[in-house]
This record gives sequence, C-alpha cells and structure tokens, in this order.
Amino acid sequence: MIKISVVQASKFAAKEVVIQGWVYNFRSSGSIYFLQIRDGSGFIQAIVDKSRVNEKVWKSCAKITLESSVEISGKISKHPKKEEYELQVSDLKIIQIAEEYPIGKKDHGPDFLLDNRHLWLRSLKQWAIQKVRNTVINAIYEYLNQNNFIKIDSPILTPTSCEGTTTLFELDYFDLGKAYLSQSGQLYLEAAIFSHTKVFDFGPTFRAEKSKTRRHLTEFWMMDAEMAFVEHEENMKIQEELICFVIKKVLANNQKELEILERDIKPLEKIKLPFVRMTYVEAIKKLQKLGVDIKTGEDLGGDDETLLTKDSVLPIFVEKWPAALKAFYMKRDKTDKFVLGSDMIAPEGFGEIIGGSQREDDYQILLKRLKEHKLPLKDFQWYLDLRKYGSVPHSGFGIGLERLVGWISGVHHIRETIPFPRMINRLRP
Ligand code: 4AD
Ligand code: MG
Repeated sequence: MIKISVVQASKFAAKEVVIQGWVYNFRSSGSIYFLQIRDGSGFIQAIVDKSRVNEKVWKSCAKITLESSVEISGKISKHPKKEEYELQVSDLKIIQIAEEYPIGKKDHGPDFLLDNRHLWLRSLKQWAIQKVRNTVINAIYEYLNQNNFIKIDSPILTPTSCEGTTTLFELDYFDLGKAYLSQSGQLYLEAAIFSHTKVFDFGPTFRAEKSKTRRHLTEFWMMDAEMAFVEHEENMKIQEELICFVIKKVLANNQKELEILERDIKPLEKIKLPFVRMTYVEAIKKLQKLGVDIKTGEDLGGDDETLLTKDSVLPIFVEKWPAALKAFYMKRDKTDKFVLGSDMIAPEGFGEIIGGSQREDDYQILLKRLKEHKLPLKDFQWYLDLRKYGSVPHSGFGIGLERLVGWISGVHHIRETIPFPRMINRLRP
C-alpha cells in the first residue's frame, strides 16, 4: 500500500492508500464513524464502517479524541455528490490518543490563543495564513530570481543602527562593547551591489518598538532589495511590479485558503499597474481636507495611512518626504528639503508595507548627514568608503513580510501572520 498526502487523493481514486494525520473532528452514527483528518496538505473524511473493519479497529475508534494522531489505510472514493474524495477505511492505527484539547470551537480571547500559539497554529485559519505566507515568500524569491537579483545574507549582529537609534535592541558583545540586532540589512546590501549590481536579503529584523499597534512586531521578517544604477522613479516601478507579481501568485495558488480566511478577493483582483503616486505635501493637504489635524512636517500615523487610502483601490506611494522625518542615508531632491524616498501604503487600512529610497551616493554629503544625525563616524567609515570606490546612483527598498501577508490574507492584526509573534508584551511561547 502506498503512503500519500491528502492533497494527492484525487489521483488515487479507487486505490488502496495509507494516510497519516490528525483527527480534527469526528462523529458517529451507530455503525459508522466519520473521522475528519488533516495532514497539513489538505482535509479528508475517513469513513469507518463497522461491517468492513475488524473488531479491534472498530473498538479503537471509540477511543479517538480531538487531535489524536492516526495512520489510516483504505480505498479512496469520490464523494457521491461533491467534488471531494473520501477514504473508505480498512485499517486504522492510533499513534497517540490526544489529551483533552484546550482549543475548542467556542470563542477564546486573543491572550488565551497567543499563550497557546504552539497549538493555535493547527487551527484552520492559522493553517491558511501560513500557507499564504509561504506563497508570498516563494513569489518574492521567484520574482527576484527572474530579475537577476543575487541573495546576500546580511548580518543580524551589528555595531550600528540602520533606522534610527530609538528602536535598537542592545546586547553586550564580549570585549567589543555593544552590539545591536539588525533593523534592516540595507547598509550591507549597499556594499554588495558593487559586486553583484542587484541584490536582496530576506530574514528576521528587530525593532524595540514601544508601540502596541496591530501593525507592529518587535521581530519581523524583511526582504531588502538594493540596486546599482537605479534611481527613485525606477525604484518605485520595481516595487509595484513585485507586489503585483506576488498578489497574482496568491490568487492563483491559494484560492481555498483565502476562502477559509473569508478574504473578499475582489479588491485583490483589482490591483494593477501603475499604483498611485502622491507627494508627502499632497498627502498632508488631502488629510487636512478630510478634516485631520495634521501639519506639514509631521509624520503620518496608522490612522492617517488608513484614511489616505480609504477611497483608493490601488496602493499609494507617498514620496518626497521632509528629510527630517526620514533616515540619514536618503538622497535629497533638488530643493534639499525633501528626500527621494517613498512609503508604499496598502489599501483597505493595512498601512505601510514598503519603505524605500534612493541613497546618498556622495562622500562629502553623506559625511555631513552622519554628523547631523550624531552617528559614530568610526563605525560608519566602511559605509562611507563605498562612496569612494566607484560610487553610483543606487536605490533600494524593504518589504515588511507580515504587513504584506496581513493585507493579502485580510488579517486585521499582523501578530497572526508570523508563527511565533514577539511584541512589547509577548515573548512566549
Ligand atoms: O520603512 P522601514 O523602516 O525601512 C527600512 O528599514 C529600510 N532600511 C528598508 C530598505 O530600504 N532596504 O521598514 C521597511 C518595512 C516597512 O515598510 C514595514 O512594512 C516593515 O518594514 N516594518 C515593520 N513590520 C512589522 N513591525 C514593525 N515594527 C515594523 N517596522 C517596519
Ligand atoms: Mg518606513
């Protein structure tokens, strides 16, 4: 007998197979047990008919509890009415009888579910979210590979900050003083473009965010891309192309998962090129018109981002931010007041999903910026060096994976999009 995954069932109609998995639901009607089995690849109903199994198998069915692990043999048959396949059981081995499972069908509060994240991950919606996340990750890789990007793994332990010093996680590093967990691999990627022209990294990044919002984690995954000979406009073009590519992949591969998540896919189907572009100044004016008490020079908060995209089916690039609001490395436009940088704001209230910019490529100007930001020159000398040996215009961007998955799967709080969320008030399990 051949061992198969549930997802392969249709290919094995009328064949004898073995399936290993967990019982996520069951009921009996006298002489028949209906066991709902999941194995990670899919879901299947196993039918145990008393007249077609031996007594030992029949008796073991009575012992089954929710989440018990089983190995079931039988014949695959097509459901008489639906486009579904079932397993007509001939043999059943219990691997483990599960103890009473703490997550039931009733509503649990978020704290209970997060405390039981190690179990919650098995729930249907959580399963679906991780499937979407997996597609998003693979689609990002696929797009970058197709476009000749090279993956460069940037370090997690760093001597300096990338995105400001207020959200750094600090630790003692032997005799060398302080080390910090990476906020973004960008600076290291800037070194790698001189070797490979187009590069990316994809890994965990850390921010000691004091904010308790539905969009903030202290550990999250970022894909940073960095490209030589690319300026601000082209940088935005690549970002929107990549996002369209990812959405198409999810719509093609995760129909069932989006249905489980009750995600209305119409807004996703409407995402097309080009996205909307708006300067920071225009954005402020629009918000003021909508009645928001915000002044030029102030940063946009989560609510502002939501309001700004309220009537837009497409994501919006807010570009040319006041230099004072953005990082030291961003190149400025001709006015010297605004940076050649953009935030991509997702529609439907999911907020900023990408931050990107053209980088300052002039040695003297960058040196001035580092001084203005009071950053330790000794630790940034290597970064300045890059402007000494064949400096070129270059740009890049960073996608927050959890924010992107949150938007695409329609999950309100991004803590559900990462397997084990870390937030200001949560480190366990
Ligand atoms: O806008 P950010 O801070 O940009 C950078 O770090 C650049 N160095 C990236 C680059 O140019 N290579 O962060 C990029 C994205 C944000 O748009 C957001 O999606 C996500 O990372 N992000 C967070 N996601 C979850 N929790 C947080 N605390 C986040 N902070 C940023
Ligand atoms: Mg940002």
